[in-house]
Amino acid sequence: MITGKYPSLRLRRNRKYSWTRRLIRENNLSTNDLILPIFLTDGKNKKSKISSMPGIFRYSVDMLPKVIDKALSNKIPMVAFFPNTKFNKKNNLGTEALNENNLVCNALKLIKNKYKNEIGIMTDVALDPYTSHGHDGLIKKNKILNDETVRILIEQSLLLAEMGSDVIAPSDMMDGRIGEIRKFLDKKKFYNVQLLSYAVKYASNFYGPFRDAVGSKSLLKGDKRTYQMDFANSNEAIREVALDIKEGADFVMVKPGMPYLDIIKSIKDKFKIPVFAYQVSGEYSLIKNGINNKIINHDAIIESLIAFKRAGSCAIVTYFANEVANMLD
Ligand code: PBG
Repeated sequence: MITGKYPSLRLRRNRKYSWTRRLIRENNLSTNDLILPIFLTDGKNKKSKISSMPGIFRYSVDMLPKVIDKALSNKIPMVAFFPNTKFNKKNNLGTEALNENNLVCNALKLIKNKYKNEIGIMTDVALDPYTSHGHDGLIKKNKILNDETVRILIEQSLLLAEMGSDVIAPSDMMDGRIGEIRKFLDKKKFYNVQLLSYAVKYASNFYGPFRDAVGSKSLLKGDKRTYQMDFANSNEAIREVALDIKEGADFVMVKPGMPYLDIIKSIKDKFKIPVFAYQVSGEYSLIKNGINNKIINHDAIIESLIAFKRAGSCAIVTYFANEVANMLD
């Protein structure tokens, strides 16, 4: 592969000015690559700070049009809703997930009615924002029940589809849920709802700020290691993706992002399916704090996102979406 050698070959020649660096650039980041997560909260005209995520807020549903207008003007193709459910609405079974007037459903109704198909809306399928124990599934004698949970997740998915969600994203890591959700949506004639499987979701230490944002952090009993993946594993990621593709996923997600670029690359190489990356809350806050404290440059944001493109992901869920859209301008 390598032809020629120094001194006749000097790789620095192609780097000498901006124009030549731009010509040989192998990967690019554009606003088309970005998915913006939005946290929802109860109330009216409310915008509340999230202490562990500087610069990120929770919005009451009536404030959403402003947020969506900004995303649209930044040419962001899709946003994702995450609810901070009031403590008194959480219970052992996470029943608020099936309430057609919960935060996510109200947000879907408002935004789909106002913006039609101008912007994609993605919603999470999992019970953790709704359970009093902070787990993604039902719990019995300290065990997370799989099949019983899936039976609720299919109902949650149907409700989200009925409310107009374009992309349904199961992040719960129960076995078999992609197939069951696809089957149920087909039966109810929602053939065109896309399924974005969080196929490879690790039991990660980088989710802390998100759990703070949706109010599950202090509630969480134990950890999620009996359903989320062991971060020492990579072959298992391939098996998870293979199953989810067979079960009917339209695209798959790897989560967290930056510590798992090897996984993104191997999935892309093997399956040639759209792979999304989730730059999770802990990654966001580390970079953001580094910038705010002048430890790293602002451009570290772009660097962190281009890395996902290089590894093979086609889109990235990132809390930096608006900020980076402005930087790309
Ligand atoms: C839960 C869910 C989590 C995130 C998205 N959906 C957290 C968890 O599994 O505990 C994390 C996102 C982030 O950290 O930014 N279903």
